Amino acid sequence: MNEQKIQIAKPSFLGNEKKYVLDALESGWISSIGPYIDRFEREFAAYHGVKHAIATHNGTIALHLALSASGIQAGHEVIVPDLTFIATSNAVRYCNAVPILTDVDPDDWNISPESIMHAIKPETKAIIPVHLYGNPARMTEIMEIAGKHNLLVIEDCAEATGALLGSRKVGTFGHISCFSFFGNKIMTTGEGGMCVTNDDELAEKMRILRDHGMNRKKKYWYDQLGFNYRMTNMQAAVGLAQLEQLDTLLSSRDEILRRYKEKLSSCKGIVFQQTHGNRNVNWLVTVRLKGMNFETRDVVISELSRHNIDSRPVFYPIHFMSFYKDPVFSPAGNPNSISIASEGISLPTYVGLEEEKIDYIAHCLIKAYEKYST
Ligand SMILES: Cc1ncc(COP(=O)(O)O)c(C=O)c1O
Repeated sequence: MNEQKIQIAKPSFLGNEKKYVLDALESGWISSIGPYIDRFEREFAAYHGVKHAIATHNGTIALHLALSASGIQAGHEVIVPDLTFIATSNAVRYCNAVPILTDVDPDDWNISPESIMHAIKPETKAIIPVHLYGNPARMTEIMEIAGKHNLLVIEDCAEATGALLGSRKVGTFGHISCFSFFGNKIMTTGEGGMCVTNDDELAEKMRILRDHGMNRKKKYWYDQLGFNYRMTNMQAAVGLAQLEQLDTLLSSRDEILRRYKEKLSSCKGIVFQQTHGNRNVNWLVTVRLKGMNFETRDVVISELSRHNIDSRPVFYPIHFMSFYKDPVFSPAGNPNSISIASEGISLPTYVGLEEEKIDYIAHCLIKAYEKYST
């Protein structure tokens, strides 16, 4: 294949995106007031069957907003998976609380109820399960543990918009759930995020904190320290159009995963995330190359690149980062997170990725794996 590189991700604008953005521009409502924000929030809440959706400028601050509104502060501990994008635990640090980086399950790659149980201490106030790469975490058990220990649960659904645990959508289990609409996500607003909740009080707190902490009845009167975490009407215009397309986008991703699984099935050393029968929305089709290590996995990435295929490593465990080295953050060492990170590779996944390209990627991956695995 001597064509352009196959990208790892790209957005798909199949519906009303341009029409709505032009409408927003022409209306003059380009900042954080405007009809698209209200509509996007209303429709996103309706899609999830929850009472409130609060749009934000990105997914990282959605997490910070959720934690802040929940009163997470210095002296508190929050359990988060070690294997996730760094924003999940950074948001806890922004609150001056301590993220406890906890190991994930070797099969589904999500924070496991067992490791949560081991991490709970009197200081623990919350858990942030992440639905990694679009694969639902075991929320029913996690909510049971949280209920027993009186812990708040904030679902990090950044990579998993529309994923199903049984027949229930992720984002409807936790007390608050946070989404990302970054350009490579399941649906996008360029940059963007959302918090959803059924709790009236938390929703009101998030709305106030998102808008500098301004009193909702008295303009320019501030009762607390807040932030400017608002989404623009232009972002929301894109978001609304993407939401209208979401089910189509998801079916297309289902097909992509099905094809990858079929084409890679002959290689027993290439292993997918276990879904327990749930709907993984395949943010990025990601596999373990069994027996590889950080070095050989990176050689496979280079080899794919030579064949014009963009791929990327799985996230490094957060406790590898210099500012998370203190064992206070990861008392358990987290061997599963390390081995998934060392073997993991994400493959091109975007709506419109042609079957012959998937076949080509699978072929090149198997060849590279056979060449470099010991
Ligand atoms: C698991 C996870 N949490 C949080 C975020 C942060 O979202 P954003 O990039 O919109 O700030 C991301 C996005 O990349 C993510 O993958």
